[in-house]
Amino acid sequence: MKNLITEHSCKIDIELPPKDVHAQMEVFYNPVMKSNRNIAILLLNSVENEKMNIASPLAGSGIRELRFLKELEAGKIKNIFVNDIKENFPKVMAENLKLNAVKNDLRDKLIIHNDDANLFLLNQVKNCIGDEFCGYFDYIDIDPFGSPNPFLASAVARITREGIIAITATDTAALTGTYPKVTKRKYWAKAVRNYMMHEIGLRILIRKVQLQGVQFDKALIPILAYHKDHYFRIYFKCVKGKEKCDKILKEHQYLLFNPKTLEFTVSEFNQAEGFEYFGPLWKGNLSDKKLIAKMKKENPFPEEERFLDLLYQESKNDRVGFYDLHVIAKKYGLETTKLEPILKKVKGVRTQFSWTGIKTEKSVKEVVKVMKK
Ligand SMILES: C[S@@+](CC[C@H](N)C(=O)[O-])C[C@H]1O[C@@H](n2cnc3c(N)ncnc32)[C@H](O)[C@@H]1O
Repeated sequence: MKNLITEHSCKIDIELPPKDVHAQMEVFYNPVMKSNRNIAILLLNSVENEKMNIASPLAGSGIRELRFLKELEAGKIKNIFVNDIKENFPKVMAENLKLNAVKNDLRDKLIIHNDDANLFLLNQVKNCIGDEFCGYFDYIDIDPFGSPNPFLASAVARITREGIIAITATDTAALTGTYPKVTKRKYWAKAVRNYMMHEIGLRILIRKVQLQGVQFDKALIPILAYHKDHYFRIYFKCVKGKEKCDKILKEHQYLLFNPKTLEFTVSEFNQAEGFEYFGPLWKGNLSDKKLIAKMKKENPFPEEERFLDLLYQESKNDRVGFYDLHVIAKKYGLETTKLEPILKKVKGVRTQFSWTGIKTEKSVKEVVKVMKK
């Protein structure tokens, strides 16, 4: 049965997913991903990029692109190319355009395709119309079921200099150590199943995408990377140049972790006595501090405020790894303590990866000492 859904500026008439979201729906709409779409809009309104040729190769219901049309600031969009492999996608997209009374000048910016995502991305060079559009995109949003791997090569091939690639990955089990063989095959790394699994998974995914880029001299620099609900999401800015790529490769290292003491360190080597290793992973920043500050300031979505604040806090000390007060308390036989006073004493910041987590330069011994007091 169809339902009329309102998501911020847009309405769509759509069949809702059953409890276990799956690919069998007529066209895909997942209400949980509203936040993912909110943040995409906020980010695109906060970056300097203008007059963008936008590509959405896996558009589902098309709600994201309808919202782009309505909620992106004037001057941001040159064209939006939407595509989905589902047969009825063009019909649904056309109906929803009508339902939302999208004005003709905006409607003209939308180009609807019904193809395989890779073919769609690669084939647009055939439709080159000079300066207006030459088959390359300034923003590509890869939002698949599961792993983004099948679409990375074509996204990297078709992104412009200074363009932005956004990637969602919902195959969190593969990135958080549930299936070590799968992680190795798909992400060329070793993940972990402990309290740091989401940060390590996110950093493993960043490196994997970057490796796709460097082979074409495209340096993919994360400007925002996070884990939320059931997915990972990363926005990369694409910068061209061999040196930039070499720099990226230097940032691919290992996290060494001592499960007995909870000490950890980052190293270019994967061996040290008493330590397990995870990675290789991206050890650079997860976000552009200035961008997060701007997003936080200009955020029109009250429901994202708390999360943006967390990302902002974390961006002030954007380092690899964190301590979790509950885990430390259990390991060292201590009482669990409130986070705020400890944060102050160890000059730490909160992290998106745990409500009881702290990012700090201090050693585990120093944190334990403060907790004992
Ligand atoms: C997670 S949904 C997209 C959700 C959408 N981006 C949103 O924000 O609501 C993934 C979509 O990819 C489509 N899809 C799967 N494989 C595809 C392929 N090879 N080429 C194009 N579309 C594909 C599915 O039909 C589905 O609609």
